[in-house]
Amino acid sequence: MSLVKELYEPYVLPARARISTDPVMRMLVDPAIQPAVLERFFLQLNSLGVYMTEPVEGWIRRAGQKCLSQGLDSLGHALIAHAKHEAGHHLMMVDDVRHLVRRWNARRRPTLQTERLLAQHPTDAMRAYRQLHEDTLSSDLPMGQIAIEFEIENLSLVLGPHLLSNVVRVLGRETLEGLSFLKEHIQLDVGHTALNSRMMEELLQLMPENARTLAELGSHALDIYLRFLGDCLHSAEASMWTPAEDAVA
Ligand SMILES: [Fe+2]
Ligand SMILES: [Fe+2]
Repeated sequence: MSLVKELYEPYVLPARARISTDPVMRMLVDPAIQPAVLERFFLQLNSLGVYMTEPVEGWIRRAGQKCLSQGLDSLGHALIAHAKHEAGHHLMMVDDVRHLVRRWNARRRPTLQTERLLAQHPTDAMRAYRQLHEDTLSSDLPMGQIAIEFEIENLSLVLGPHLLSNVVRVLGRETLEGLSFLKEHIQLDVGHTALNSRMMEELLQLMPENARTLAELGSHALDIYLRFLGDCLHSAEASMWTPAEDAVA
């Protein structure tokens, strides 16, 4: 059995289980969700998601540099190579917001403005997500970044396909055009998760005693990301009740 399965996964499975049991995730994949709420959810996911995604390249590169400085050459080089593959991914989200706003404005009210959506303040979960990365990178265990990335990219694989199926059912296939970030990540993160899994195995060979701490970091990141998805859904629901002039955008 791999060290990931033996030493790490037992501590991360409760958090992973919440991807399918959390009430927010269940609502997002429920065909009975109100179409306008699901559409606003994706507007929020992509506009607020820029704050979550823009620093990813830098976080992974910094973890790589820390590994190199500690003599962990193969992990360091793998992280620096992975970092390059994350460059500019937040721009997909910006494009998606523009696309989804055009589509919304052609069919629904209130009229939304891309710039106002993109200028929203971060929620507590969003700030906590950045803080967790910063704290990890400046800790004694900066390679904890690998566990964080392992869980978050795995989330794309586990939740993404169910989300997209529900989009097709509830909003129609045309809406997929405005979801390039999600669509691409369901594919890209297959390779990234395989890489993360190999890096985790290597890391656990080097420091098996840190398996539980790494799992706690990964679980914490996943919990925060699920809270972020909850924020996107709750603000989407709230916008249905808000008069046009006070709407989120
Ligand atoms: Fe990415
Ligand atoms: Fe990725």
